[in-house]
Amino acid sequence: GVPPLSQCLNLYDFEVIAKRVLKPTAWAYYSSGADDEVTMRENTSAFGRIWFRPRILRDVSKVDYSTSLLGQKSTLPVYITATALGKLGHPDGEKNLTVAAGKEGVIQMIPTLASCSFDEIVAAKTHDAQVQFMQLYVNSNRAITENIIAKAEKAGIKGLFVTVDAPQLGRREKDMRMKFDDVGSDMQNQNKDNVDRSQGAARAISSFIDPSLSWDDLTWLRSVTKMPIVLKGVQTWEDAVRAAELGLSGVVLSNHGGRQLDFARSGIEVLGEVVEALKAKGLFPNPMFQIFVDGGIRRASDVLKAVAMGATAVGIGRPFLYAYSAYGSDGVVHALQLLKAEMEMNMRLLGAPTLKDVVPEMVDARALGTH
Ligand code: FNR
Repeated sequence: GVPPLSQCLNLYDFEVIAKRVLKPTAWAYYSSGADDEVTMRENTSAFGRIWFRPRILRDVSKVDYSTSLLGQKSTLPVYITATALGKLGHPDGEKNLTVAAGKEGVIQMIPTLASCSFDEIVAAKTHDAQVQFMQLYVNSNRAITENIIAKAEKAGIKGLFVTVDAPQLGRREKDMRMKFDDVGSDMQNQNKDNVDRSQGAARAISSFIDPSLSWDDLTWLRSVTKMPIVLKGVQTWEDAVRAAELGLSGVVLSNHGGRQLDFARSGIEVLGEVVEALKAKGLFPNPMFQIFVDGGIRRASDVLKAVAMGATAVGIGRPFLYAYSAYGSDGVVHALQLLKAEMEMNMRLLGAPTLKDVVPEMVDARALGTH
């Protein structure tokens, strides 16, 4: 059995428990990174090279960590990022995330390759005003993608996150050693005949992603939706500046949880150069172009480091998957509450009563050493 939820004291604890309860195929798919997993480890270790410069004697009797993402309110500068194949971990799959997000007032990004159908995930909202975003893999068959977008818009999805770091899915060797025989996704089911199950879950679901996607296609994408468009998986200042100049709504600095190009830098390492370049062009700060970061974020201190350096919010992936694999939606609720408690304490000790007070001078990122 699993220990009582109250014994989970931080987000790392869920990983230890999930490893025990998940089937080997699920553990392999969720936990793996690409190749030697150097980037995946760097995602957490990079935060260890950023230090705080807390301020004293400020009134921190009240602390407020609420914010807004793409104009949508969130109780935390954290969203639940898209992770495919939710039913590998729990029969209710992504709906666990929807319920917890609704209860705790955070935003969930629905994956294209969810195990639950899009309609089920939307229907699982705890209240009508609950905000959801959608992650988009652009299909080689553009009509399929246009249908997905139209459906999302009709369902009231508030932001479209186009994944741009996966023209081909990375080699996750732990996963490739497993035969994928399990719950698939909507999209996979539409293409049942083309699926090769012999090389793990990632390979089985990836054959629909269009590797020809390019900057030119963004004109088409923008013409088929009014939803704000954010590029997920930007890794250089050059591409971030291009996205801003195109008038997109933001970028996620991300390496896909270390699952794509090994030796890609972590999002937090890219953040510095992106903010600097945008500033130099007069494009930062800009409420119409927000910067998000994901990868390796496990503590409120990680969240606050990213916010101090210019991120509006951060995405968290695996810890929430692990939390619901072991405890269902209650696990995700608990994980979010742990983050809230950590935020309150960290902001007090930093001398920052609101997120606006979390300024660049509050971190010493010299040891990141990226530029
Ligand atoms: C992902 N991620 C991801 N990203 C995406 O754009 N589409 C997808 O289908 C998936 N699927 C997926 C599955 C699993 C099991 C994982 C772990 C990750 C990447 C995800 O959105 C995010 O970038 C990382 O998970 C963030 O890193 P952490 O928080 O998991 O360290």
